[in-house]
Amino acid sequence: MRWKRATLSSGEVRRAQQLGRYHLLDRIAFGGMAEIYRAKTFDGNGQAHLVAVKRVLAHLAEDDDFIQMLVDEAKIASVLRHQSIARVYEFARAHGEYFIAMEHVDGKDMRTVLERCRTKKKPMPPEHAAYIAAEVGSALHAAHSAVDSRGKPLRIIHRDVSPSNIICSYSGEVKLCDFGIAKATLSRVQTKTGVIKGKVKYMSPEQALGRKLDHRSDVFSLGSCLYEMLTRVPPFTATNEMDLLIKVRDAKYKPVSEVAPSVPFELEQITDRCLTRSRANRYQTAADAEGDLRVFLKKYMPNYSRSHLGRFIRKSFAQEIERELRMLEEYVLTDDPSDDVGENLMSQGDDNFEAPEVPFQPKPTSVSIIAAREAARDGSRQSEVSEFSSDSNFTTMPKVEQHDEQSGWGRPTPAPFDIHAAHTAIIEGGRARTTAPPPIREEVRRRPPPVPVRAEAAPPPPRPPRSAQPTRPPAQPIFVDEELHAAPTMIIDIGRMRGRGRG
Ligand SMILES: Nc1ncnc2c1ncn2[C@@H]1O[C@H](COP(=O)(O)OP(=O)(O)OP(=O)(O)O)[C@@H](O)[C@H]1O
Ligand SMILES: [Mg+2]
Repeated sequence: MRWKRATLSSGEVRRAQQLGRYHLLDRIAFGGMAEIYRAKTFDGNGQAHLVAVKRVLAHLAEDDDFIQMLVDEAKIASVLRHQSIARVYEFARAHGEYFIAMEHVDGKDMRTVLERCRTKKKPMPPEHAAYIAAEVGSALHAAHSAVDSRGKPLRIIHRDVSPSNIICSYSGEVKLCDFGIAKATLSRVQTKTGVIKGKVKYMSPEQALGRKLDHRSDVFSLGSCLYEMLTRVPPFTATNEMDLLIKVRDAKYKPVSEVAPSVPFELEQITDRCLTRSRANRYQTAADAEGDLRVFLKKYMPNYSRSHLGRFIRKSFAQEIERELRMLEEYVLTDDPSDDVGENLMSQGDDNFEAPEVPFQPKPTSVSIIAAREAARDGSRQSEVSEFSSDSNFTTMPKVEQHDEQSGWGRPTPAPFDIHAAHTAIIEGGRARTTAPPPIREEVRRRPPPVPVRAEAAPPPPRPPRSAQPTRPPAQPIFVDEELHAAPTMIIDIGRMRGRGRG
């Protein structure tokens, strides 16, 4: 059992486990590569912030190549600043474990939202589908046109645009997560032959064929997500993976109007244009798709704002919201915190990479000790919850809207401080993985976390804050460089596939 429980007079409490600067609260999700927790951390003023911590499963933490890949990928995600991209704060190692700390999006991912729509047998209103797809389109365009600190295009492709990586917050924000398998010029570890990456159902035809990818692959995947939001079923389904690959390769799907006749024609046209097999006939940029979606939305529901989406999500998950809030109140911080804040593995040793700035400045855990002791002394567990900073990414309570509905671009990022002043190290010498991660054995899943160790070194001095970057990415042409992304995302036996396709 991971959580130590203690019974207080006011009821049952759970003890948060410390991982670096973070105190892990409840586990949000558990997958083949990592588990995700809500976690609490403190800034220099003792202000609490809620973040999401993605902890790499134990068997993968032993694989240096894999960890190197994650470091590179976390770097890619961390340079992206956009209102609809979940921020990555650090990729770190502490207490013998590897984890990514990122913006916590307080809401539900699109996979869960769609499951709820299916269970209730209710469609997702088209205005929400259009808005969500427009926000994701905007996020994708920002990633596709992102440049490094010297203005060089990073040529980022997400490669895994899928419902589980799109999160809608309870206040109606839409966040694209998990640039986990994105590949950009700064990534040194190449995706290699034989590794299936991304979810086949939402892949582009060229991705399913193991061809060279460019940003238009993400546009196709966006179309698959839009199709599913409009119809409640994915465009491509099959009973086995090979048949699914063939369907995706051929980009043949039932027309939206056949599955969901009430969907407005313009939206169907936009979906079809994203889902075009030929890249040349698709939307050429995610911004083009976003533009058409916003034009549709303006005509279809001129007064639409993100608060409409927030209301829809809150209404769909009212019980869960209650439970999630109660859960936060149940946790107390450890009585014996470690000062080991770990190493941020992203911020040193790479000339091509500038460490990210984050909107808060976590302190070593001493602050949290004080907070925890005070809370214990007051007997007020409520204070553990209410102390979350209003300018953190804690969005259970809808934030004041500062979103520019006209332009689709968001509020300016508050002047950030650099939190990750800790001495860091980049793991060198990563080579490409040649096999998929092994299946997780039950005993590995149940393995208890390592015992925290105390840090020897004092925390390093903070670096001077840099000026805030604009939220809107600089306008950059998007390069269609066929050679750049030459490493195939996955290899299937294309000859065999062709045979089956004909047969
Ligand atoms: N930053 C975040 N804030 C809030 N919830 C998150 C965050 N990141 C992930 N989640 C939740 O955790 C779930 C699982 O995420 P995870 O990325 O581990 O798996 P996945 O999205 O199903 O697959 P993949 O690894 O291919 O992205 C998400 O669908 C979402 O519900
Ligand atoms: Mg994900």
